[in-house]
Amino acid sequence: MNIPGKELRLLNIEDSEDDSLLLRHHLARAGYRLTFERIETLEQLESALGEKTWDLVISDYVMPRFSALAALNRLKTSGVDVPFIVVSGAIGEDTAVAAMRAGACDYLMKDNLTRLVPAIERELLESSHRRQRKQAEQALRTAERLATLGRLAAVIAHEINNPLEAVTNVLYLLRQRPDLDPESRDYIRIADEELARVARIVRQALTFNRGHSGVTSVRLSTILQNVLELYGPRVQSGNVVVEQQFECPGDIFAIEGEVRQVFSNLIVNAVDAVGQGGKVVLRISPAREWGNSRRKGVRVTVADNGSGIRPEHRKELFEPFFTTKGNKGNGLGLWISREIVQRHGGSIRLHSRTAPESSGTVFSVFLPENAFAKSHSKAVTARAAS
Ligand SMILES: Nc1ncnc2c1ncn2[C@@H]1O[C@H](COP(=O)(O)OP(=O)(O)OP(=O)(O)O)[C@@H](O)[C@H]1O
Ligand SMILES: [Mg+2]
Repeated sequence: MNIPGKELRLLNIEDSEDDSLLLRHHLARAGYRLTFERIETLEQLESALGEKTWDLVISDYVMPRFSALAALNRLKTSGVDVPFIVVSGAIGEDTAVAAMRAGACDYLMKDNLTRLVPAIERELLESSHRRQRKQAEQALRTAERLATLGRLAAVIAHEINNPLEAVTNVLYLLRQRPDLDPESRDYIRIADEELARVARIVRQALTFNRGHSGVTSVRLSTILQNVLELYGPRVQSGNVVVEQQFECPGDIFAIEGEVRQVFSNLIVNAVDAVGQGGKVVLRISPAREWGNSRRKGVRVTVADNGSGIRPEHRKELFEPFFTTKGNKGNGLGLWISREIVQRHGGSIRLHSRTAPESSGTVFSVFLPENAFAKSHSKAVTARAAS
């Protein structure tokens, strides 16, 4: 294979200068332009990791002062995600297995490097996919966190409004008293000014949260698939089987970012609930609203065979900050999801069983075809303003 002029930042852990030279020749012949460093101790590895970014590590298995397993350990503890290939003089089956267990991507013999270039290409590609996925996940998390904060700010602002008005009225009544001395009058003026400041902040928080809407045509099947792609590594590492039963594409008019947030919350909850080897079923079907058969829309269900939700928890589930996940959960996912679904004129239902042999949970979300059509938008605005 020839990769003309392809840059490769290679860290080579190798005690033999000759072997390292051979490796460099092999890669140069394959068309790589190398930025290269050879190291042979843990201290050198630490400074190489601290000073530069590497695309690939190629390491001998055992050296007089270091080993591939020790290097892999160090990489794991430092959290550096870089493909690691073992190239050794002699490698038995046991050592190969040990290397792969410790996190090596591949192992090759020094006297047969024909597989090296394809292995490098494959690992570079996978590592670039991993990086992109991480970035996308990070960006989405930040956006979701901001949306959460915005909503929280709005709820707090909304709650502050009533007592604020009451205090303003009391101050007004106080100011009307004829027997007020000038000093008290001055205190009331200061309190009035400060209250006006709080009212301004509250108004700003409320407008901020309402400013980001944008209704577009949204395909729910695409959103579910995007969410699955994003959380793919989490699903795979838990060996969770996800079944998709899409009876229709699920086209509706909605605020895309918000709808995505609902389903990522529900899917992550389901994956969390099933643990290793569990199953999650996602279904999309055409539907009519519960209790109003004239209203057409789409139903999405997220079902899992996890441990279920204990009856005593069901009442609190949609309350903010209710979580059973300790430090790992904020307890905001379901609260936000329900708020978004209601804003879209839809509803969310829950069925759960905790019996050991047949435990599991189903969340069903009904979303109307077009919650923001004129006839409905008045109700939505009224609800949002209340
Ligand atoms: N599919 C499910 N199976 C079992 N329990 C669930 C399921 N979905 C939610 N729960 C329970 O409901 C609680 C609240 O869920 P919610 O999504 O609101 O918060 P969270 O997942 O704990 O934290 P986060 O804010 O990060 O989403 C969870 O802690 C969990 O106990
Ligand atoms: Mg959650």
